[in-house]
This record gives sequence, structure tokens and C-alpha cells, in this order.
Amino acid sequence: MGLSLLAYLLLAITGVWMFRARTTRTSRPSWLRSLHYMFGGSLVLLVLLLLAIGIVGTLGHFGSLGHSSHLPAGLFVVGLVLLSATSAIFINSQPWMRSLHIGTNIILFLGLVWVSLTGWDVVQKYLP
Ligand code: HEM
Ligand code: HEM
Repeated sequence: MGLSLLAYLLLAITGVWMFRARTTRTSRPSWLRSLHYMFGGSLVLLVLLLLAIGIVGTLGHFGSLGHSSHLPAGLFVVGLVLLSATSAIFINSQPWMRSLHIGTNIILFLGLVWVSLTGWDVVQKYLP
């Protein structure tokens, strides 16, 4: 989870950098986009990994899902990350996808806070 927060932070930094370069019409280093893409790919993998661990671990431990709002929070975050990545792929051909990409990523921040808080809550249940 720490890694995915780091990936989000790096994506925000490289993303805002690209945004500034575009709006101020200055040039941006050619590696900036690939770097942003790489961080994006890492975020997708990390979030899917956490989802798999969460579902497999909970099923193994309880045999059922949906004990708390951590489940909807987790699905929400995974959905947003996938939407963000999909919209990103089409930014070049469909410019309005850019607003979708930026919008989902702002909501994604709230989603990450939600999944962390509810995740912390279920961790407390394991502590004696
Ligand atoms: C989910 C994985 C992500 C992928 C695969 C991804 C990929 C991309 C791509 C391909 C672009 C278009 C770059 C171009 O102009 O050619 C872009 C733009 C952008 N991304 Fe991401 N991104 C991801 C996540 C994020 C996150 C989490 C943030 C912010 C927190 C972010 C912020 C931005 C911003 C602000 C732009 C706009 C750049 C501009 O206006 O020119 N991205 N992203
Ligand atoms: C993107 C991040 C995450 C995703 C997608 C995710 C997803 C999930 C899912 C789908 C479950 C099964 C929940 C259920 O059926 O009730 C789960 C369980 C769990 N997750 Fe996460 N999770 C994430 C982050 C976290 C974090 C940050 C923590 C701890 C701080 C955490 C701790 C747990 C624990 C302890 C369980 C067992 C739940 C239970 O006993 O009901 N998760 N996770």
C-alpha cells in the first residue's frame, strides 16, 4: 500500500509537470511521458495485487467477503485506477479523455484515503 501511495505521488508530480509544460507551452523532456506511463503501470499492478491479496486472504480466513465498507472502497479504487489508465491511453486521439483522466485521478485520491482508513479499521479487528 505504501508503494501504491508512492506511485500515486510520483504520478501526480510527473502529471502536473506535463500539464504545466503544456499550458505554458514550454518543452518537456521526452522521458517524462514514459516515466509517467511506467509509474502508471506500477500503480495498476500494485492495486490489482492488493485486491487479489485482500480477496484471497479474506476468503481463506473467513470463507466469505463483505465484512465492512473496505470491500466497496477497494473495488471503487480498483475501478478508478482502471478507468484512469484506460482514459490515459486515449488522450492523444480523444482530447476530452484528458479531463476524464485528470478528474478520475482527483477522485482517486479520495478513494485511496477511504481504502486506507477502512483497511486500517479491519486491521484493528485482528489485534487482540
Ligand atoms: C493509472 C495510471 C496512469 C496512467 C497509465 C497515466 C498515463 C497518462 C498519459 C498517457 C497521459 C498523456 C500524456 C500526454 O500528454 O501525452 C497522462 C496525462 C496526465 N496524467 Fe496520467 N496516468 C496515470 C495516472 C495518473 C495519476 C494518478 C495522476 C495524478 C494524480 C495523473 C496525472 C496526469 C495529468 C495531470 C496529466 C495531464 C498532462 C497534460 O495535461 O498534458 N495520471 N497520463
Ligand atoms: C488499493 C488498496 C486496497 C484494495 C484494493 C484492497 C482490497 C481488499 C478487499 C477486496 C478485501 C476483502 C474485503 C471483504 O470482503 O470484506 C480486503 C481485505 C482486507 N484488507 Fe484490503 N485493500 C486495499 C488496501 C488495504 C490497506 C491499506 C489495508 C490496511 C491498512 C488493508 C487491510 C485489509 C485487511 C486486514 C483485510 C481483511 C478484511 C476483513 O477481515 O474483513 N487493505 N482488501
